[in-house]
Amino acid sequence: MKPELRLRCNSTLYHAGAERRAACAIPLNMSDFKRASRWWRSETIYQIYPRSFSDHSGDGVGDLEGIRARLPYLRDLGVDALWLSPIFASPMKDFGYDIADYRAIDPLFGTMADFDRLLAEAHEAGLKLLLDLVPNHSSDQHAWFKASRSSREDPKRDWYIWKDAAPDGGPPNNWISNFGGPAWAWDEATGQYYHHAFLASQPDLDWRNPEVRAAMFDAMRFWLDKGVDGFRVDVIWHLAKDEHFRDNPPNPDYTPSQPEIERNLQVHSADQPEIHRIVADMRSVMEEYDERLLIGEIYLPLERLMDYYGEGGSGVHLPFNFQLIQTDWHAQKVAALVAEYEAAIPEDGWPNWVLSNHDQPRIAARTGERQARNAALLLLTLRGTPTLYYGEEIGIGDVEIPPGRIQDPWAKQEPETSRNRDKARTPMQWSSKPHAGFSTTEPWLPLSADWQRRNVAAMTGEGSSMLELHRSLLHLRRQHTALSTGDYRQLSVADDTFTFERCDAQARFAVLLNFASEPREVALHPAYEGGAILFSTDAKRTGAANAPFTLGPDEGVIIQGDPPS
Ligand code: GLC
Repeated sequence: MKPELRLRCNSTLYHAGAERRAACAIPLNMSDFKRASRWWRSETIYQIYPRSFSDHSGDGVGDLEGIRARLPYLRDLGVDALWLSPIFASPMKDFGYDIADYRAIDPLFGTMADFDRLLAEAHEAGLKLLLDLVPNHSSDQHAWFKASRSSREDPKRDWYIWKDAAPDGGPPNNWISNFGGPAWAWDEATGQYYHHAFLASQPDLDWRNPEVRAAMFDAMRFWLDKGVDGFRVDVIWHLAKDEHFRDNPPNPDYTPSQPEIERNLQVHSADQPEIHRIVADMRSVMEEYDERLLIGEIYLPLERLMDYYGEGGSGVHLPFNFQLIQTDWHAQKVAALVAEYEAAIPEDGWPNWVLSNHDQPRIAARTGERQARNAALLLLTLRGTPTLYYGEEIGIGDVEIPPGRIQDPWAKQEPETSRNRDKARTPMQWSSKPHAGFSTTEPWLPLSADWQRRNVAAMTGEGSSMLELHRSLLHLRRQHTALSTGDYRQLSVADDTFTFERCDAQARFAVLLNFASEPREVALHPAYEGGAILFSTDAKRTGAANAPFTLGPDEGVIIQGDPPS
């Protein structure tokens, strides 16, 4: 490379006499260094849906001992923090998102001793453990709700949201449950309605009540005292509802092919201004401990999402960013959303990226396996904390759920319009042994049709497999801080391709992605001419990066540029 073409990370690019400011800058002041020390900035989160990860007890449902047995796999894969979907005592109407005791492990998953052992061994293996906090609603089987519904005079009556019927005897307002039908259930014994944003068996707690806040914060401390590394907070934007319980306005764009919840705009039922005080209080609980992570599940437009970072960083550390789930898979669209998101992140905020989760279609089901490889490359090289969803690393795609085996309560309640979430919750495929090595008996949900070749054992050591692709990318991220905490700069978007750069004081990398299933030529930034190709989604790719550079069909590559000077 000619010296005059060198791009310096914290300086300027001199090219053909022109001077351009480089976007990549190294941290310059102490507060930047302090921020950089927060572990989640450089680490990768891995979501485990415990029912479906590994079954040790042999009942067809995964459990804590099953997860513990897989710690060596997770460590070798190269992920850093495990987030477990709920493992607490629950009647399982919404598979654990309906909690009957915030401080107990459900026997289906094991015992508290199993949990303590899992936590200790995860830590020994250098893995962090995050739990799912479900504060918006409990199960109707929780002692709090049983007391609350026992009489209007019970001291816990106002822990939940009770209202008189409308004058016509119907529900107090027009709010709709996220799973369809009214968001209010009539209680015959006490003659009032209670509010439920999800199932009727998931009554909403009243977060305006200080006793509710104190009880939930104590439940958080119970787990934090044990040493858990943080929480993913379920539907955090739901915690504050309109004080006056006004009707939601109709959605002018609603079509009957959409779930019923879309019929109205959720203007009054969630995301009220008071939410940020609640989140700040939750954050204060986390701040009583060292370096614990608070993640919020939030499905809101970008500008509203950003508010959840909170004034002066008083919000959640990571408001989950679901944009890659919601976008069409096109170079222009993906590049635009990355640019918009990067521009919106507050100065003291940190980005994060997600491709799928237990509520959303799997990425390979959306894009097909070839583009799912590119999606993994994108997820693991964008600036920000990535969250991988179990099974993504082996590319589980669409799974057929026979009508008789449907489990998802939403799919049962709205069979026509829901997207059956079971499809993304099927068992992890470990080997070609019966039941894919997940269990010794028929699992609670079916396996993907190709499980005999799409499993961890079969894909391990197979150079071109999705699993080895993930392993390589995760190890590259660990090796090069530029790929995790480094600066981000878009290089080009053209003709189905998107290219960007990551760099820090040590190294610089260009990521080139072809979204088309035909070859595409991309302009190579001069800083990368002749650079080494560090990684390709096409295992057969060899050689150096010479201009003009042609990406193969559906190919993504990482090119190492000249070290910054
Ligand atoms: C969240 C969970 C989802 C659950 C709902 C109600 O969106 O991710 O699985 O059904 O909350 O708790």
